Amino acid sequence: MKSLALLALLAVSLPSLADRMPLPADTPASYKSECGSCHLAYPPALLAKKDWARTLSSLDRHFGSDATLDPKAQQEIGRFLERSAGDANKLGSAGEPPRISQTARFIRKHDEIPARYWRDPRVKSAANCEACHRGAADGRYSEHDIAIPELRR
Ligand code: HEC
Ligand code: HEC
Repeated sequence: MKSLALLALLAVSLPSLADRMPLPADTPASYKSECGSCHLAYPPALLAKKDWARTLSSLDRHFGSDATLDPKAQQEIGRFLERSAGDANKLGSAGEPPRISQTARFIRKHDEIPARYWRDPRVKSAANCEACHRGAADGRYSEHDIAIPELRR
C-alpha cells in the first residue's frame, strides 16, 4: 500500500508527459526541411496513420499551397509518418482535410482557451502552434511556456 501511495505522489508531482513532444530521434532531415518550411514540423504523434496518408496523397492541393515532394522524399516521409503516427482511437477524427487542430485530443487539450484567441492577430490560426507554444520547435508544450501572457499559467 505504501509503495502505491508513493507512486501516486510521484505521478502528480512529475511534469505532464503530454507537454513534451520532441520529434523522434529517427526523424528524416527531409521531414524537417520539407514539412517544416511553411509551418512547424508537426509532431507525428498528433495525427493518425490514415490521416497522414491522406495528407501526403493530396500535397498538390495542400491548404491552398502546392507542397508536392520528389518521389524519394515522399517515400521517406511517408514511412516516417506511418511508423510515428499517433493512436487513432485516442486522437479522434481529424476532419477533411485532416487537421491536428480538429482532432478531439487537440480540442480537449485547448478547451479552456476563449474562442477569440484563435482569431487573435498574434495567433491567426490554431495551426500556428508556435504563436502560443514558444518552445514548440523543441517539442515543449507546457502550459507555463505560452507566448500570450493572458493564457500562461
Ligand atoms: C508551401 C507551404 C507548405 C508546405 C511545404 C507544407 N505545408 Fe502543411 N500547411 C500549409 C498551410 C498554408 C496550412 C494551413 C495553415 C492554417 O490553417 O493556418 C498547412 C496545414 C497543415 C496541416 C494541418 C494543421 C492543423 O492542424 O490545422 C498539416 C497536418 C500539415 N500542413 C502537414 C504538412 C506536411 C506533412 C508537410 C510536408 C509533406 C507540409 N504540411 C508541408 C502549408 C504548407
Ligand atoms: C492560442 C494559443 C495556442 C495555440 C495556437 C496552440 N496552443 Fe496548444 N495550448 C495552449 C495553451 C494555453 C495550453 C494549456 C491549456 C491548459 O492547460 O488548459 C495548450 C496545451 C497544449 C498541449 C497539452 C500540453 C499538456 O501539458 O498536456 C499540447 C500537446 C498542445 N497544446 C499542442 C499544440 C499544437 C501541436 C498546436 C498547433 C497545432 C497548438 N498546441 C496550438 C495554447 C495554444
